[in-house]
Amino acid sequence: MALRNILTKEEPTLYKKCRPVTAFNERLHQLLDDMAETLAQANGVGLAAPQVGVLRRAVLVIETNVPEGESEYIIELVNPEIIERSGVQKGAEGCLSVPGEYGIVERPMHVRVRAQDRFGEWFEVEGEGLTARCFCHEIDHLDGVVFTSRCERMLSEEEIEKGQF
Ligand code: NI
Repeated sequence: MALRNILTKEEPTLYKKCRPVTAFNERLHQLLDDMAETLAQANGVGLAAPQVGVLRRAVLVIETNVPEGESEYIIELVNPEIIERSGVQKGAEGCLSVPGEYGIVERPMHVRVRAQDRFGEWFEVEGEGLTARCFCHEIDHLDGVVFTSRCERMLSEEEIEKGQF
């Protein structure tokens, strides 16, 4: 595994639409493993392939809604698609590609996603709360959408410092 460089918001790559993954090979596995290491290092909750400069439809999301005493785990989503959304949540969101900035974004409270795993097997997964937000945010990246374009407003430095959001 190796750390990959996380692109920041000035990079045009972040605003391009990604192509589907068609080869479920060692190269994809290497990408996903590297993304996991990069995500852990950056202390994030999600990462999309275009953020490391790869214009393919693959993302990682950390499932943080786990029972007490159990570990959070990484969900790998290849060619993901949101097939159900319900409810509404409004809250602060950030992105490893937009360090230090946060904004208020409205997202569904619950989503169901259909995706392939690293071997090409289709599966479905559900997300609630932060995990639903994260699925939406990461899948947006695959269409060249950065969260700042969905923000109702950005938080001020004072709000960020005080944690008032
Ligand atoms: Ni992001």
